[in-house]
Amino acid sequence: MTRIAYVNGRYMPQSGAMVSIEDRGYQFSDGVYEVCEVYEGALIDEAHHMARLDRSLRELRIDAPLMGRALPVVLHEVMRRNRLTNGFLYLQVTRGVAPRDHGFPQNSVRPGLVVTAKSVDPEKGNLLASKGIAVATTADIRWKRVDIKSVSLLPNVLAKQEAREKGCYEAWLIDQAGFVTEGASSNAWIVNAEGRIITRPAEEGILRGVTRTTLLKLIAELQLQVEERSFSLDEALSAREAFVSAATTLIMPVVEIDGHPIGDGTPGPVAQRLRNLFHDAAAKSK
Ligand code: PDD
Repeated sequence: MTRIAYVNGRYMPQSGAMVSIEDRGYQFSDGVYEVCEVYEGALIDEAHHMARLDRSLRELRIDAPLMGRALPVVLHEVMRRNRLTNGFLYLQVTRGVAPRDHGFPQNSVRPGLVVTAKSVDPEKGNLLASKGIAVATTADIRWKRVDIKSVSLLPNVLAKQEAREKGCYEAWLIDQAGFVTEGASSNAWIVNAEGRIITRPAEEGILRGVTRTTLLKLIAELQLQVEERSFSLDEALSAREAFVSAATTLIMPVVEIDGHPIGDGTPGPVAQRLRNLFHDAAAKSK
């Protein structure tokens, strides 16, 4: 089936879709994005993704690309035109097209908006989750505004590639004090020997994952013990369980970090339970 993309006001076949070479997203990474999961025809955590997009745009002083309900309408139209039942929506907003100059364009320009869809069989993720993933650590060399979901992802790209070259699925980024910040494209979690679930506070140099927010609500509902605090790589290595969260992976058990097995080296029960309950929790947290 021909994939259909929304590009600056038009729906068109993705293979022929183009943006200007003077788009500031292309020249300066001057833009933001969201990745949303679509599961059984529903756009998961839509309101939270829209709220985070608004925040990212405000922080970078990029105008909203569409007013009011128009953006959600476009998202659902892209889903419809691609007959997307399970998979992901990618949406990107850039400051727009202008002659290259580091400062913002003098005259107001229209922000660039691109939305694409990708079908993925959810069983692929479930199969991966039944085995768990290996993680490789690397230094967190990112800028200080990683709370903004900017398309400027070069350190994340390099970390992910380094991990892939070591046969790992994800990279965990380590700050200068030896604490885990987050994954290259996910939030990081551990479960310690006492069964406490630990994840870094969203205010301390990580992206506030939408999946993370929904998961924290689920954890509270289940009355599991949770601590929002930094944890070191050493603590992670001696944890009972580890996992990551993201719209793309959902809750994904981590069974190995830098070649060391976590717990007994198989997906842990807490991560598996949270994964199983996630979609119901997301439906409730609308
Ligand atoms: N990444 N941290 C980073 C650095 C991320 O890039 C992501 C998501 C997350 C998790 O956020 P959420 O739960 O809202 O997906 C945390 C997306 C999936 C990506 O870049 O593909």
